[in-house]
Order: sequence, then C-alpha cells, then structure tokens
Amino acid sequence: MDMERAAPETGIRWTMPVDAFMSDDYECHESRLNKLYEKAKGAQWDVATDVDWKSELDPDNPLGMPDPTLLIYGSELWERLDTKGRKEVRHHAQGWMLSQILHGEQAALICASKLASAEDSLSARLCAAVQVADEARHVEAYAKLVNEKLTVSYPMSQSLKGLLENTISSSALDITNLGMQVLVEGIALSIFQNVVAYSKDPFIKDLFTRIHRDEARHFAVGRITLTRIYSEMSSTELKEREEFVSEGARVLYDHLCADDIWSPMGFAKEACSAMVRESRVASSIRRAIFRRLVPTIRELGLLTPRVRDTFEKLDVIDYEAMPLAGGEP
Ligand SMILES: [Fe+2]
Ligand SMILES: [Fe+2]
Repeated sequence: MDMERAAPETGIRWTMPVDAFMSDDYECHESRLNKLYEKAKGAQWDVATDVDWKSELDPDNPLGMPDPTLLIYGSELWERLDTKGRKEVRHHAQGWMLSQILHGEQAALICASKLASAEDSLSARLCAAVQVADEARHVEAYAKLVNEKLTVSYPMSQSLKGLLENTISSSALDITNLGMQVLVEGIALSIFQNVVAYSKDPFIKDLFTRIHRDEARHFAVGRITLTRIYSEMSSTELKEREEFVSEGARVLYDHLCADDIWSPMGFAKEACSAMVRESRVASSIRRAIFRRLVPTIRELGLLTPRVRDTFEKLDVIDYEAMPLAGGEP
C-alpha cells in the first residue's frame, strides 16, 4: 500500500491555567504515592534501545490483531469485501486508533506537566514529574510506530479534541486529573490490554506491555489523589465533576465508533457510522473498553444517579461490580 496520510494539522493552542506552586514543605506524606514514585523511577526504559524496531510487521495486518476486534467485523459490508478491501480496513482502523492514542499521549504529557507544577502534595507532584518522562517516551514510541510502521494516520477526532480541551484548559486541577488519568487513561488502558492479549506480533506485544505498565501507574496515581479530594468535596462542587464524567463518557463512547475512517476509504460515512452504532459486535467491543472506567468512577464516589443514568444509557453499568485491578505496587 502506498504511503497515505490525512492532511496534516498545523496544531492547536489551548490556554492552560496553572499555578506555579512553591511549597515550603519538603516531606512526602502520602505513602501509597511514594511507593508509586519509587516504582516509576525503577521502571524507566528507552524506546530507542529496549524494543526491537527492526522487526517487520505483517503488511496485511500491522498490529497482528484478530479480525473480530474490528468494528465492522461480521457486517454485510465486511462480508462483501475481498482480501484487498479487508486489508485496507485493517490499515485504516489501526492507523486511526494509534493516531488517536498518539494525540492522547501528547495531551497526557501536557496534563502531567500541569500537575507537576501545581499539585499541593510533594508526593503527587513527584509522581507527576516522572509521568512527564513516561509520557514523553509514549509520544516517542507511538510517533515512531505511526510514522515508520503504519501506512495511514489521522488527525484527532472532533470528540477527542473537545474532551482534551476541557481537560487541559480547566482551571480546576482535579478536572485535569480526572479527565486525563481516569477517563482518557482508563479507556486507553483497556485498549492496550486488548492489544497485549490478542496481538500475534511479538514486537507489538512487547511495546504495548511496556506502555501499559507505565499507564497502570498513572491510572493508580489518579485514583489515589482523586479519592482523597472527592471524599472532602462539597456536593455543589461534586455536581460539576458528575457532569464532566457523564459528558466525557458519552464523548469517548462515541469517539470509539471511529467515524472518520469511512470517507478516506470511499465508503458512505453516514451509513457506516449508523451501521457501527447498530452492530452488536461493535457494541460489545466498545462496551468492554469501559470495564476499568466504571468501577473506578464507583471508587471515586462519583457513581451518583446522574452518572449511573449515563452509564445505563451507554449499557456499561454492569461493570459497576467489577473489582479494580492493577497499578499499585
Ligand atoms: Fe502515556
Ligand atoms: Fe499516562
């Protein structure tokens, strides 16, 4: 397949209100966060030298993922496609997903730098500082993967753009934390887990396992910090967080339909978008990606009637009972 790229974006500038907080307390008071900081320091790795970039990916299926993980698998359209058509769908679906992840990683780098500058607690601030290095590594890795190993890349989806802007430009530090470390990373962690579980390619498995390990720490830091903050917050302030979670969950659920991939392949966008929304295969793929997020929202104390209503409408509320797994040492 020829190199094919969607029109390059020149970039966006968002305003990020942030305090440069100079604390006079140099004690690290939060032992769970301190352990995560220690773990993070010992878990640094090098994108350039620790993974095998010389490894060749399958030209028919770069990520080595099974076809039933594709949103249109089993549909009439899928059945009609020949070998070449199916290959094109894999390239676009994987190129789209990795491009969105790459944009998300850049946003994570920005958010972590904000938290490192403004967190009150030195324990949280050191975790955020080492996260900046982690996210730099993830940007490096996914940019290399998209630019050198894939044939298709995409700009940020409109829905992801809106959520990231709200997350980055909020004047409330906990909203930045909630949007990035819980919503976006909660969804990303499930996607990475799927790749680790299903990819047939050893290089892809290795790369995603390493990144997944880093992300699980970030997700754990977010949970610990926010559980403390939300247990002390007034109901009026919590309402705004409920709104944010409800809206963010809806946006991410919609984002996962990957509406932007149809027109570049010459398919009717509206018909394909509708087909994905009605497909049982696609719904179960999208639902499963919420398996971490829903129990985390429960643990944060944000599974209020309003948020519950959103999760019920998205048909993901049954993950409420799932235990929280991984992340902490
Ligand atoms: Fe990351
Ligand atoms: Fe992260």
